[in-house]
Amino acid sequence: MLNVAVFDTKAFTKAAFQTQNADGISFTFFEHRLTPDTAVSATGYAVVCCFVNDTVDADVVERLGRMGVGLIAMRCAGYNNVDLEACERHGLGVVRVPAYSPPSVAEHSIALMLALNRHITRAHARVREGNFALDGLVGFEMHGKTAGVVGTGRIGKCAAEILLGFGCRVLAYDPFINEDLAKRAGFAYTDLDTLFRESDIISLYVPLLPDTRYLINDDTIAKMKKGVMLINTSRGALVDTRALIKGLKSGKIASAGLDVYEEETEYFFEDHSDAVIKDDILARLLTFNNVLITSHQAFLTKEALAAIASTTVRNIQEYAEGKRGKALTNGVCARCAR
Ligand code: NAI
Repeated sequence: MLNVAVFDTKAFTKAAFQTQNADGISFTFFEHRLTPDTAVSATGYAVVCCFVNDTVDADVVERLGRMGVGLIAMRCAGYNNVDLEACERHGLGVVRVPAYSPPSVAEHSIALMLALNRHITRAHARVREGNFALDGLVGFEMHGKTAGVVGTGRIGKCAAEILLGFGCRVLAYDPFINEDLAKRAGFAYTDLDTLFRESDIISLYVPLLPDTRYLINDDTIAKMKKGVMLINTSRGALVDTRALIKGLKSGKIASAGLDVYEEETEYFFEDHSDAVIKDDILARLLTFNNVLITSHQAFLTKEALAAIASTTVRNIQEYAEGKRGKALTNGVCARCAR
């Protein structure tokens, strides 16, 4: 039996894993996150299973290595929170779930666009108070507007298709141009500057990498159309939040929909309603009535949870069968071979 310690779990995580046929695997579900302080809970486990806000830095990896953990099974696509070099140094394999449900994330980004554009949350709050006034709730037609899709991988492609369905003109940027896809779907690739200059809505679907960190910053915001809507469902640090706040204050950015925030680890996924928010940047963002924040929930659909659980189980079963490094279908750490 392969023992797996699953960190940062909620009832919905447990429910999704318990419906899988996980022969030969025994899961222990911890509600706490993996951090240097909690790494000790991995003692006696061959595999740790982590999520987006677990800390899998060099220190934690070294501790896991000493405890005999051989595999880090990420139950997400991104692995920017994992120190891969440390994993290679200590011989830990890393697997992930590359695509669990691109429509889930794409549809959430569109939900943010529509809710912001048509002021759904403000309207809902008003009518619940018996206020049926319409002032301040004027939106715009998506039809005919230019939507800039940054990143045309699995999620970006799906978002582009939905936006085309709305009748938007879709401009896309990706360093890897897929002309076939663009032709079939009906969008056009362009350079990033043109996308920034011409888009009424800009939505990000790119991984967090050294060259995508702060992709949205003072300089790039300056290139955007006045009154642009910015959507980020990818990773918080793609956006320099201080620059975003400046853009919102000046009116350059008319609205922002964020499912991710660069310092989200401290707050997202947990109930802090009884505490004071000490993060002044997050607190400032929450004061804008044209900013809509969700707590990294774009993945949170029944379909995505089931897909995450089944791929994670398969990833771990491959490891149990003795596959290592590149032989692991969803391995991200080619040289790891403990
Ligand atoms: P993917 O790997 O299929 O596509 C990413 C695309 O970004 C690729 O086409 C790549 O060429 C492109 N790219 C790389 N560098 C770029 C750059 N500098 N500028 C523009 N494009 C660039 O990834 P997928 O599945 O579409 O996911 C995208 C991101 O969404 C993930 O990396 C993850 O951070 C985020 N995500 C967020 C979730 C949430 O719940 N909020 C859930 C799942 C993923």
